[in-house]
Amino acid sequence: MNLRGAMMTDKMEVTPWTVSQELKDTDYDRIADEFGAKRLNDEMLERIRGFTGDLHPFLKYGIFFAHRDLDLILDDYGNGKRFYLYTGRGPSGKMHLGHLLPFLFTKWLQDKFNVDLIIQITDDEKYLFRDIDQEDISRYTDENILDILSLGFNPDRTHVLVDSQHSGLLYNNAIKVARYITSSSAKAVFGFTDSDNIGKFFFTSIQAVPAFLLSELKGEDIRCLIPYAIDQDPHFKLARDVIPKLGYYKPSSIISKFIPSLKGSGKMSSSDQNSGIYLDDDPKSVRKKLMKYAFSGGRDTAEEQRKYGANPDIDFAFNVYRLLEENYGKVQKIHEEYRSGNMLSGEMKSLAADKINEFLAVLRTNKERVSKDVSSYMFDPARFE
Ligand code: TRP
Repeated sequence: MNLRGAMMTDKMEVTPWTVSQELKDTDYDRIADEFGAKRLNDEMLERIRGFTGDLHPFLKYGIFFAHRDLDLILDDYGNGKRFYLYTGRGPSGKMHLGHLLPFLFTKWLQDKFNVDLIIQITDDEKYLFRDIDQEDISRYTDENILDILSLGFNPDRTHVLVDSQHSGLLYNNAIKVARYITSSSAKAVFGFTDSDNIGKFFFTSIQAVPAFLLSELKGEDIRCLIPYAIDQDPHFKLARDVIPKLGYYKPSSIISKFIPSLKGSGKMSSSDQNSGIYLDDDPKSVRKKLMKYAFSGGRDTAEEQRKYGANPDIDFAFNVYRLLEENYGKVQKIHEEYRSGNMLSGEMKSLAADKINEFLAVLRTNKERVSKDVSSYMFDPARFE
């Protein structure tokens, strides 16, 4: 099926390189349906809770909203068989909150299930797809790795795989995938044309490798669960077609929506400094960005706000606050205060700024610690049990 074609008919395009800006919940549901992913329904959420004891805010609030074969992962786990996690990042620039939040969820999964995690850093991808030189990419690679690791991943079970640094291992496995992908299917799935460079056509084979790498290295079939945002789905849809032909399980996935940008819906964009909160923004700039740019679900005047209340669901400050506040009772209370008009938009923004600054301060401290010890997180086949 031509996924891209399917999405284009409604002036909506979802590939790893283009995402139309205004996606509503109903759009996400439709994309999941058209891509052939299943929704994370209440039954599935309860199954997860059965293993984890509680539900991460990203599950509660439907940020992670779809999956493929998550049930098979849970079946295996329930039967005492292990699985592993795989996610990644293309180092094309500094990281903002929107980039980091999926990793926060992945860390939760790692902690709850106590499993290995491969984090792929696709520096080759960004060279092929963006107009950035290798020196800059290499700088972002180092910086991004520290940012990601500052979330506190388990050092014994976290394996950072940098494409350019692990190219031997990757290449020999990527060619096994590439053998099964024709240029016409790459065109159909990703929307490439004859004028796209040939590296782009090959790249998806590289992104597929970590989805079976542990099985390959261990010589036994181990299931892989991949958390990713919906724009990455075309890669893994292809990977699921090919990997069984190599003799391994189809990878499973758990799929998220985009974290809304400061200015409203759509994803936080790296090209607009004010559309996101950067991890190195100091507390004052965070507050200023929120006050000045954050899309508000409140009313135009304080008077109207007191009278009619806000719509917290479309409010950036409220949304970020609830993602970072683990105390569900508190979140519900704030939701009600803001919705009913007891709380003003400025107060909501201020509360969110405090929460973000608290979060960033912890990352900064962790980052310093991790930076002394990055090499111990790097991918090394000998580190897997
Ligand atoms: N292609 C992703 C990006 O541009 C990076 C990536 C590689 C990734 N492997 C992944 C993302 C697995 C999620 C899951 O950021």
